[in-house]
Amino acid sequence: MTIQRQSRQQHVVQPTKTPRDNDVFENTLRPKRISEYIGQSDIKGHLLVHMEAAKKRYEPLGHTLLHGPPGLGKTTLAHIIANEMGSQVRVTSGPAIEKPGDLASLLTNLELGDVLFIDEIHRLRPVIEEVLYSAMEDFALDLMIGKGPTARSMRLDLKPFTLVGATTKAGSISAPLRDRFVQNFRLNFYSEIEMEQIVERTSGILEITLEKDSAQRIAQSSRATPRIANRLVRAIRDFAQVNEEESVSIKRVCDTLNSLGVDNQGLDKTDRMILEAIIEKFGGGPVGLSTLSAATGEEEQTLEDMYEPYLMQQGFLKRTAKGRVATASAYELLGFQAPVDVQRGMF
Ligand SMILES: Nc1ncnc2c1ncn2[C@@H]1O[C@H](COP(=O)(O)OP(=O)(O)OP(=O)(O)O)[C@@H](O)[C@H]1O
Ligand SMILES: [Mg+2]
Repeated sequence: MTIQRQSRQQHVVQPTKTPRDNDVFENTLRPKRISEYIGQSDIKGHLLVHMEAAKKRYEPLGHTLLHGPPGLGKTTLAHIIANEMGSQVRVTSGPAIEKPGDLASLLTNLELGDVLFIDEIHRLRPVIEEVLYSAMEDFALDLMIGKGPTARSMRLDLKPFTLVGATTKAGSISAPLRDRFVQNFRLNFYSEIEMEQIVERTSGILEITLEKDSAQRIAQSSRATPRIANRLVRAIRDFAQVNEEESVSIKRVCDTLNSLGVDNQGLDKTDRMILEAIIEKFGGGPVGLSTLSAATGEEEQTLEDMYEPYLMQQGFLKRTAKGRVATASAYELLGFQAPVDVQRGMF
């Protein structure tokens, strides 16, 4: 199995998945039913229709691809689909499936209507993808038995199932694989109101009382990402408990966020360092990803998957054909005077 190198910096406001302890914590907070899943109303609306139609036809839900930045709720939704369809979910990931035989054994063990969840589906090896094509299309497995001139192919029928694939990199999925998904949903960053609801839900489960304005302030600092909101609530709870406070005041929230280096737009030190590097070292850009990576000490993949989506969504960064460019808002955020062409939005 390929081991992905972790980002050099692990931070509470980065939506990356971190150690086991966090897995347990995340599972406790994961909504189990679609009615508990906050936001993403378009996706929920479509899913409810497709799930009901599938149930009426006594068929599994069509294969579903979920894509979008880390921590927005793809894994959660995959489990919800299985729960709502009354089926079991089998969980694996692209890099974990090393040989066609691994996939074959996963597929042949599925029961009728099961959900097979493949996380990081963009990292499937091409030879594995080939096996998946007939499995997705015909619920059949084409296997080669033997080698050389005596080799023959054999077709094994599978029980109809739903493949749910998740990825942060939809662009890296091959066209043949992407085309075999019946539904293709992009998860978006959450609005401030939705984030506030998520903060309140999490505080309720963790039995924390938030004083006035506290939920809103945490929501504003959560990078529009539920995973980060949950981590911030958890960190703030610890600070409040250590200080023997029964409820969480806005002051406690602000102090904790300050000590974590998080501002009220959810940006942390690394975000600001990235923007600062573009402005100070590269005259505002354009700067290529690899150069930016060398200048900031963050891996290219980390920059692309974890930092850039939110910086772009907030309008601090633009990706152009020539590279990354800091916007007028980035200059303003960091207290720099933006050059005239940037002010005019020519980049
Ligand atoms: N819509 C939502 N409503 C409430 N909580 C949510 C929602 N989406 C996600 N969460 C919370 O955020 C946490 C992270 O979500 P999840 O693990 O599903 O993200 P992901 O998109 O799979 O991330 P990654 O790309 O890193 O795998 C979950 O544990 C859950 O508690
Ligand atoms: Mg996930």
